[in-house]
Amino acid sequence: MAFATVWNYCVPLAIITVACLVRTARCQAVQAENVTVLEGGTAEISCRLQNYDGSIVVIQNPRRQTLFFNGTRALKDDRFQMVLFSTRLVRITLTNVSVLDEGGYFCQLYTDATHHQVATLSVSVPPETPTVEVKQEAVEGGEVELTCMSPRSKPAATLRWIRNGREIPGVESQQVNAKTFSVSNTIRFPVERKDNGAALSCEAFHPALGVQKRIRHYRLDVNFAPTVRIVPPSGILREGDSLSLTCSVSGNPLPRNIQWSKINESLPERAEISGPTFQISRLSQSHNGTYLCQAQNNYGRAADHYTLLVYDNVSVTTTVPPTSTVPPTPTTQPITSHPATPTLLTPIFAPKPSDPGAVVETHSAVPYAVIGGVLALLVFTVICVLIVTIWCSVRQKGSYLTHEASGLDEHGEVQEAFLNGNDASQGKKEYLL
Ligand SMILES: *[C@@H]1O[C@H](CO)[C@@H](O)[C@H](O)[C@H]1NC(C)=O
Ligand SMILES: *[C@@H]1O[C@H](CO)[C@@H](O)[C@H](O)[C@H]1NC(C)=O
Ligand SMILES: *[C@@H]1O[C@H](CO)[C@@H](O)[C@H](O)[C@H]1NC(C)=O
Ligand SMILES: *[C@@H]1O[C@H](CO)[C@@H](O)[C@H](O)[C@H]1NC(C)=O
Ligand SMILES: *[C@@H]1O[C@H](CO)[C@@H](O)[C@H](O)[C@H]1NC(C)=O
Ligand SMILES: *[C@@H]1O[C@H](CO)[C@@H](O)[C@H](O)[C@H]1NC(C)=O
Repeated sequence: MAFATVWNYCVPLAIITVACLVRTARCQAVQAENVTVLEGGTAEISCRLQNYDGSIVVIQNPRRQTLFFNGTRALKDDRFQMVLFSTRLVRITLTNVSVLDEGGYFCQLYTDATHHQVATLSVSVPPETPTVEVKQEAVEGGEVELTCMSPRSKPAATLRWIRNGREIPGVESQQVNAKTFSVSNTIRFPVERKDNGAALSCEAFHPALGVQKRIRHYRLDVNFAPTVRIVPPSGILREGDSLSLTCSVSGNPLPRNIQWSKINESLPERAEISGPTFQISRLSQSHNGTYLCQAQNNYGRAADHYTLLVYDNVSVTTTVPPTSTVPPTPTTQPITSHPATPTLLTPIFAPKPSDPGAVVETHSAVPYAVIGGVLALLVFTVICVLIVTIWCSVRQKGSYLTHEASGLDEHGEVQEAFLNGNDASQGKKEYLL
């Protein structure tokens, strides 16, 4: 992507031509063009000749070492090649250009020391995709400091921080080392846990890239203390039911271990723990108590508790059950008074055949409940039958009257309706009896 610029082409030429006209009829002149090329690319250095008369043409590098002496290589550097030598144009190429090749290349006619021109070679170094460095770990409530860096460019690249399509102004800095620039842009802002995972990007702009840009995407990693919530079972629990609690844990980093415990007591033997779930099959009232789920990471610890109340099932049909168990409080409190013992982590799975006595008691209650239920059902059925019968009677009467009004065309139906009406009145009598 080298672009050449015609440099001082017309004005000096005019001057020289005028000067030449004054001196001799046949006057030679040389013109050089400035060149800009990407690092690693190939530069073309051209010298234009005017009225060339076969004089020796010398091309020199910025250190004034002769590269070519009238078309013959003088300096041993294979990167330079003479590609054209005509009476109008002398052109050499330089491959794998480095920033050290920058400078003025001389095109000179040996006949006259004044007839030389300088082609300035500029090397452009576009930036690589920038890198992002985090100065300090982001913790919720604190600040994050991010530095976007582009270690090498020429001319200096411009770096911009973008979040949600908007630029975040930062502190830019620039350093020169061996003709190239190292640039950086540092931003600093407070972070909350909602910022965790937020997308940012650092964009590098450079003349050699044109409208394109080099983009580094970055996701914020905000550390925060855990939160813990026990998802409670719905409804009330009775003896023989099974309990299943789920502890939903958040935090960055996500706590690895979830600890279950029972306040002031050891966990029941039948408790089954598998990570965030806690289960007890066949509850008994001895399981009453407050259960705790705890989690911690480097930034803190949290716990939630659930109070279990197991109701006996003797009173299923006779008493109104209490409206609810104690609702689990989603409050997250740092636990200091109830440190979890390490044994709590080992799942205890030992189903015991012996059931609590309370379960046995309930047998006696069943016959009474059944008899009561059957009686209630019987009374309900009788009432339903009566209601249906009355409803039918009223409906048929209505239909009979309608037919009468229409002129009694359909005798069968009327008769039927009449009979039905009779039935209904009989039913009514029955009901009255
Ligand atoms: C060519 O480069 C030289 C040195 O950088 C500068 O002085 C001159 O103005 C340039 N010419 C053109 C036409 O850009
Ligand atoms: C220089 O090279 C050109 C082109 O090859 C040639 O025409 C000219 O005679 C040479 N000049 C001398 C002095 O050798
Ligand atoms: C180009 O030049 C660099 C040093 O300037 C060198 O490391 C590299 O190997 C060269 N590449 C080729 C293809 O010659
Ligand atoms: C645990 O025991 C302590 C002291 O015996 C008592 O104050 C506290 O209320 C008990 N907690 C529960 C949930 O039973
Ligand atoms: C368990 O809780 C229920 C509901 O409050 C209560 O009726 C029962 O007496 C409790 N049992 C024990 C052993 O604490
Ligand atoms: C209630 O008690 C009976 C008799 O012990 C038992 O079979 C049943 O599982 C208990 N629980 C429920 C929810 O019915």
